[in-house]
Amino acid sequence: MITKVIPINENLNKNTLEEIGECLRRGGLVVMPTETVYGLAANAYDDDAVSNIFKVKGRPQDNPLIVHIADLDELERLCCDIPQSAYKLAKMYWPGPLTMVLKSKNILSKSISAGLDTVAVRMPSNEVARAIIKASKVPIAAPSANISGRPSPTEVIHCINDLNEKVDYIVDGGRCNVGVESTVVDLSGATPCLLRPGGITYEQLTEVLGKVDISSAVTGSLMNSPVRSPGMKYRHYAPNTKVVIIRGDKDKAAEYVLKQSEKQSVGVLCFDEEKVFFHNAKVITYGRMDDPQQLAQNLFSKLRQVDGLNVDIVFARCPEGDGIYRAVENRLKKAAGFNIIDV
Ligand code: TXA
Ligand code: MG
Repeated sequence: MITKVIPINENLNKNTLEEIGECLRRGGLVVMPTETVYGLAANAYDDDAVSNIFKVKGRPQDNPLIVHIADLDELERLCCDIPQSAYKLAKMYWPGPLTMVLKSKNILSKSISAGLDTVAVRMPSNEVARAIIKASKVPIAAPSANISGRPSPTEVIHCINDLNEKVDYIVDGGRCNVGVESTVVDLSGATPCLLRPGGITYEQLTEVLGKVDISSAVTGSLMNSPVRSPGMKYRHYAPNTKVVIIRGDKDKAAEYVLKQSEKQSVGVLCFDEEKVFFHNAKVITYGRMDDPQQLAQNLFSKLRQVDGLNVDIVFARCPEGDGIYRAVENRLKKAAGFNIIDV
């Protein structure tokens, strides 16, 4: 298949948009930019198109997809028993990096919900994404546009590397602003539950919702237990190189890494200001520790660079905290398979 790459500066004129919209409506696959990460878009009504998403990504069938809409009215077409809290959240944070899990009306392709009676819905704030959804005139299923297990794509080159010749269009929208995927909150149960931390923070959710549970999938490895968000149980975002988080004081971390570097070749993924402490390692930095936004924006592209270091192991410095830190911590810990060394 020939993939048409639409460059960022070529304004998405009406004709191109119409073409892409029609391609989607007819069952094609389109990589589109969003404010979080690039998405691999398909017509959510079309069984074959949705099944192609799973094929192209190598995605396990039991991991449901998020449906993207550009118009609030669509929510009622797709979901039932919508609680007031969903409207409140939509008013505050849509369009934006927030996904709500709600009871499904079951009008979409079955594999989107992977057998659950709920559906995950989000309205992206990226204008190009919304223009594409509108042009398609259908709800759009869109997981992150990476091969399953690889770090999510935040620049068009990541999508080209993973999906060139497997999709009809790749639309360049520049670097993704948020850099980590949307927050997923489940509103289908008695108490709202955070399933995945992201661009809308836990604190922003509790401001609107009051009490919000946090799924254990957010904080720990869940390889074998039943989960409300199936996607959270898989190893994710991972380079081929083994990544281990090294937690604790930076001097002790540096000492530990130095010792390790006598036995094996070592890489380090750390904050800008810590670079100077890791002498015997190949170092990649991903932003200042006091700038969580920047850490979120950089994390996935830096994780993609890790294999290029050609080292036996990479020790990563991971922020902890609330707000956006929670999302960065979650993604990095998942990339490390929750392997943590305390020094
Ligand atoms: O920011 C994002 O959300 C990006 C962009 C492209 O919009 N999309 C994205 O999709 O991250 P994906 O497929 O990589 O992640 C979807 C997550 C998975 O963790 C999945 O398990 C969860 O949403 N999910 C989807 N439907 C669900 C449902 N009905 N119940 C619980 N979790 C669900
Ligand atoms: Mg993903």
